[in-house]
Amino acid sequence: MAEASSGKSNGAAPGTVNVGGRAYTVIDHEYDVVVVGAGGAGLRATLGMAEKGLKTACVTKVFPTRSHTVAAQGGISASLGNMGPDDWRWHMYDTVKGSDWLGDQDAIEYMVREAIPAIVELEHYGVPFSRTPEGKIYQRPFGGMTTEFGKGIAQRTCAAADRTGHAILHTLYQQSLKHHAEFFIEYFALDLIMDEEGVCRGVMAWNLDDGTIHRFRAHMVVLATGGYGRVYFTATSAHTCTGDGGAMAMRAGLPIQDMEFIQFHPTGVYGAGCLITEGVRGEGGYVTNASGERFMERYAPSAKDLASRDVVSRSMTIEIREGRGCGPNKDYIELHVEHLDPKVIHERLPGIAETARIFAGVDVTRQPIPILPTCHYNMGGIPTNVHCEVVTVKDGDPNHVIPGLMAVGEAACVSVHGANRLGSNSLLDLVVFGRAAAIRAGKVLTPGEAHRQMPRAGEAAIARLDRLRHSSGGTGTAQLRIEMQRTMQNDCAVFRTQQSLDEGCAKMDKVFTGIADIRVKDRSMIWNSDLVETLEFENLVVQAQGTIRSAANRKESRGAHAREDYPDRDDKEWMKHTVVWVEENGKTRIDYRPVNLQPMSNDVQSFPPKARVY
Ligand code: FUM
Repeated sequence: MAEASSGKSNGAAPGTVNVGGRAYTVIDHEYDVVVVGAGGAGLRATLGMAEKGLKTACVTKVFPTRSHTVAAQGGISASLGNMGPDDWRWHMYDTVKGSDWLGDQDAIEYMVREAIPAIVELEHYGVPFSRTPEGKIYQRPFGGMTTEFGKGIAQRTCAAADRTGHAILHTLYQQSLKHHAEFFIEYFALDLIMDEEGVCRGVMAWNLDDGTIHRFRAHMVVLATGGYGRVYFTATSAHTCTGDGGAMAMRAGLPIQDMEFIQFHPTGVYGAGCLITEGVRGEGGYVTNASGERFMERYAPSAKDLASRDVVSRSMTIEIREGRGCGPNKDYIELHVEHLDPKVIHERLPGIAETARIFAGVDVTRQPIPILPTCHYNMGGIPTNVHCEVVTVKDGDPNHVIPGLMAVGEAACVSVHGANRLGSNSLLDLVVFGRAAAIRAGKVLTPGEAHRQMPRAGEAAIARLDRLRHSSGGTGTAQLRIEMQRTMQNDCAVFRTQQSLDEGCAKMDKVFTGIADIRVKDRSMIWNSDLVETLEFENLVVQAQGTIRSAANRKESRGAHAREDYPDRDDKEWMKHTVVWVEENGKTRIDYRPVNLQPMSNDVQSFPPKARVY
């Protein structure tokens, strides 16, 4: 029987660690693999590791099926060709172009080729995809997805109505249980256990339910903690998207990559930020300005409403700025589905009809939905190679592997999305690289190998927790968080300038100064939301700092990084990945890694940079 653990797994005896005169109960565990996070990537990795006979634990701060993947709506891309001609090479071209040539072409080739077996596998695991009349997986068009290298529109996005993430997440959780993976649910991961040689040996976590601390020894830790969308004031991301894995990596002295590339989804509900899927435009929806004009025809004459997300978000922002926004304050755009057959809405888009009713008070069969570009996705993350092994720049080597540590999904930067991700390539990234991590671990690990004993392992993590828990300054966490979020929202938005970014950097430095005066009122170790929010804020703020500093440093426009003062892409100077180290006091160091333009296979064509038009 798989176990939803209460911290008594594998009979570990509790010990005690004293910090600051206070005793913490510590419970030890030993696993071959510990996956941190139970979204699509974490569950796919967990399932794959367990299938390979590796003793696998999944540590997650929310119940697995409440992970943010549950909110993914429109679908998962794969060139199955169920609804018309398709080819993985076309998918590769679209992804490279969508990335504005910052994506690594070896990783992109791997993702689009493996998409096909990975989706077939999902189908066999039991994902309830929508179906064509012949019973094949239904596929809809999505932005930037084309046939014949840009000539036609591809129907490539496999959908389970507009609840695809929900369907995938439930299936992967069930399969993980079937393969006896062990789950540690509502455990907050605190820090990695690193040895003096820079090898990852495990992870520390806090059981929110009973206040105990858990020391997980593992031969491989997989960070699958998702994005850090909550650095922004308005985001489609859940409040739990605080980039905990990225911050743990940073505290272990590792860099994060390409943070300046933040995706703004064109269709977040005005005011609320909830996602309205791009699948709406895939099914024939369109956007208009105050005079009812379908303005995307001017900005992207060929792809129109199905241009890449960065292009649509910028066009909408320009319309609003130039006074053509809708509503009394001319500050939003309208999304129309009233013209669609109600059957399409009922069968293919039931979730968005409900979202629009609840969050915008709109009946989509009669009225347009008010929408705005909203922070949706982090293209950047923990740098990895194509095997999901975490890499850093060390002693002149841009691909130095950190033994014992992997990252997958939105937490990672492989990099398949480069400067801009195409819609429906995210769910794909989760399952392909969650699966790839398990394939790699199956090759490099031997089940049941002895663990290196490090008796003092994790004490620094407990000391940090204790320090935060007893912070007694005059500034509440919420106050610092809102200052960080406003700074990101105002100064690191769809369009950026050196002035806005420099002002943002100065404001962010002030937020870091404020941390010395932070106050946590609740001292409890059990369900202490004040302490959880403070830990999450500490995780967010280093990534906010990494993002805004990296953005201020990149003097070109590429994908989602749109500089008004440097409007052009500059391949000569800037076709490179940013890597940034952020210390706990907010000090940053920036370096760069080369972009890989070479596909993985010798007989696969590389796509050299060219102008990106839709
Ligand atoms: O619009 C959407 O359904 C979102 C999909 C994605 O971000 O991949």
